[in-house]
Amino acid sequence: MTAPGDLAAAEAMLASALAEARAAIPAAGTLGALDDLERAALGKSSPALSARAAIKDLPAAERPRLGQAVTAYRDEVEALVAAARERLSASEAALALDRDRLDLTVGGRGYRRGHLHLVTQVWRRLEDVFVGLGYEVAEGPEVELDWYNFEALNFPPGHPARAMQDTLYVRLGEPEQVLLRTHTSPVQIRIMEQRRPPIAIVAPGRVYRRDTLDARHSPVFHQIEGLVVDRGITLGDLLGTIETFVHALFGPGISSRFLPSFFPFTEPSVEFAMTCVFCEGAGCSVCSQTGWIELGGAGLVDPAVLTAVGLDPEEHSGFAFGFGLDRLVQLLYGVDHVKTLWEGDIRFLEQY
Ligand code: PHE
Repeated sequence: MTAPGDLAAAEAMLASALAEARAAIPAAGTLGALDDLERAALGKSSPALSARAAIKDLPAAERPRLGQAVTAYRDEVEALVAAARERLSASEAALALDRDRLDLTVGGRGYRRGHLHLVTQVWRRLEDVFVGLGYEVAEGPEVELDWYNFEALNFPPGHPARAMQDTLYVRLGEPEQVLLRTHTSPVQIRIMEQRRPPIAIVAPGRVYRRDTLDARHSPVFHQIEGLVVDRGITLGDLLGTIETFVHALFGPGISSRFLPSFFPFTEPSVEFAMTCVFCEGAGCSVCSQTGWIELGGAGLVDPAVLTAVGLDPEEHSGFAFGFGLDRLVQLLYGVDHVKTLWEGDIRFLEQY
């Protein structure tokens, strides 16, 4: 392009290349495009290089002038490139940030809300029924004293009835005085020690026995205890209460029955059952063809128990009942093995 030895032509070429660079470089849209423009303006086949090559062909007097023009061209183009690079780097970083941006307004995968365990649901339903009948909900400790679990309930030390309950003792205090409660009945004593009649409480809770796990037994299970003490309470009140409770829970088609039994802390003692809810009394595999489902034990509070808590059996009388919650849940929901309730398999639990 440049005619060797022609100063004016070289200067004109640099001037037009500079004009182009001033327009193009600040307008470069990407760092890649800027690199191309820089190479064209300053690289091997650039006007700057050919103008510099032309210097040696000029008369000595003209050489400095073209040399200065080349330097001025190079300085300005370098400055333009540097400014454009800075601008583009900043905006490409911003673009990259934008691409990688986390949109925190997108909802995410969400989480599933849990619900109460099946046994807790039945527990609460039973509480509701008894609260509706005028009972209060009470509770007692799971680590209990011999006095409450046995002695005050009329199981004297060494009494064979203690062997009915395979007790887990805690190594604390006097030997065999601290234990994991084997039933919820100790709450009866705690309540009667604290308040005077009239008393009407239910006490649901966890109990422990030295049982081997099988389909119907677990060393940890749940009971619900009931206690009513007042003047003139009779066996009829107990039977009526159980019947009312069974109706409230299962409807009028389901009734209750009572068989004589024995507990040290009730006299007389009964076992009670309700009509099988599956066959409505006709007999099926759930109720072993009897038409009845065993619920628990009950009876009138033994005079010895009233005496142990400082009540006069001539003045006050009461009834108590207790039954297993897990067992009831197993029957109602057809859960074959009690461990299914407690092994925490979400596929089981989420069905209820
Ligand atoms: N506590 C007895 C048991 O666990 C049940 C029961 C409670 C019996 C209240 C009578 C009165 O077997």
